[in-house]
Amino acid sequence: MSEATDLVGVLRAAGETTRLRLLALLADGEQSVKDLTEILGQSQPRVSRHLKLLADAGLVRRNAEGAWAYYGLADDGIGGDLARWLVGRLAEADPERQRDRQRLVSVRAAQQAQAAAYFAKVADSWDLLRSLHVAEEAVEAAILAAVADRSVDTLLDLGTGTGRMLELLAGHYRRGIGVDSSREMIAVARSKLAAAGINHAQVRLGDIADLEPAAGRADLIVIHQVLHYFDDPGRLLIQARQALRPGGEMLIVDFAPHELEFLRIHHAHRRLGLSDPQMAAWARAAGLRVSAASSFPPSDAAEGLTVCVWQLTDDPGDHH
Ligand SMILES: C[S@@+](CC[C@H](N)C(=O)[O-])C[C@H]1O[C@@H](n2cnc3c(N)ncnc32)[C@H](O)[C@@H]1O
Repeated sequence: MSEATDLVGVLRAAGETTRLRLLALLADGEQSVKDLTEILGQSQPRVSRHLKLLADAGLVRRNAEGAWAYYGLADDGIGGDLARWLVGRLAEADPERQRDRQRLVSVRAAQQAQAAAYFAKVADSWDLLRSLHVAEEAVEAAILAAVADRSVDTLLDLGTGTGRMLELLAGHYRRGIGVDSSREMIAVARSKLAAAGINHAQVRLGDIADLEPAAGRADLIVIHQVLHYFDDPGRLLIQARQALRPGGEMLIVDFAPHELEFLRIHHAHRRLGLSDPQMAAWARAAGLRVSAASSFPPSDAAEGLTVCVWQLTDDPGDHH
């Protein structure tokens, strides 16, 4: 039971129009202060003040990441419960809510367009770029080891890029499908797979944040160096899980938390790496659990990045 003063504090924090709009936006996924400021059309100090009040009252949680901070609805507690209850009662057709959602969609579309322009530019040199400053060989050995004793019928490689994962794992699946939203990357992947004689893999143009059911269901989904391009990786995992067969597995490879802000500015990154606790929470929310995790420090510790490999197992008790 909570004390009356605590409850009043939470109610006060939630009881204001902009803050209610913020809760509704956060119910659609984690967002950065930067984007929330753009969506609401208010000054950043103002939006930050509202968010601080919501965070202090336990309605939202904050996750600082370099120069940006990400917010999401609190996972539990009175604050988290109240936030979800309130958003659940807000009409979907509320004009302000609809406007905010439309702005969110256009902010995301502009970011996607920027990322697409980046990938179009780097597609030809990606294989060189992707191996810079990371312990590439050790990571690929770990990926191979993770699938070694599995029988994989269908493998789905989300954000396949130049198709490296389809190539690396070619000996381990019956049918491979790579999905990517960049025509340029897909073109490189296609010719690379053909040159390597890998006929049991195909690549398709598609948005992995909005996977078409035609992509089919896989018993192994690989998401290699892709999640950090998304503001809300947890949301993507929920989407991806729809394409996973019961009892299937996901292999996520991405950077550990880092402070290289320039990757946001020059390389379209959104998240500065992903942490183990974040991955555990995102997996849980998607009905998965982290069954193994390992990390690989850079070959040149002075300037490289640590890469993590997470194995996520579908929880058959909690299915689609
Ligand atoms: C850093 S690359 C990684 C490619 C590959 N997995 C690898 O490790 O070499 C990220 C890829 O994700 C793709 N991507 C980003 N957002 C996407 C989206 N919404 N839908 C599909 N692909 C996306 C990009 O086009 C790019 O090819």
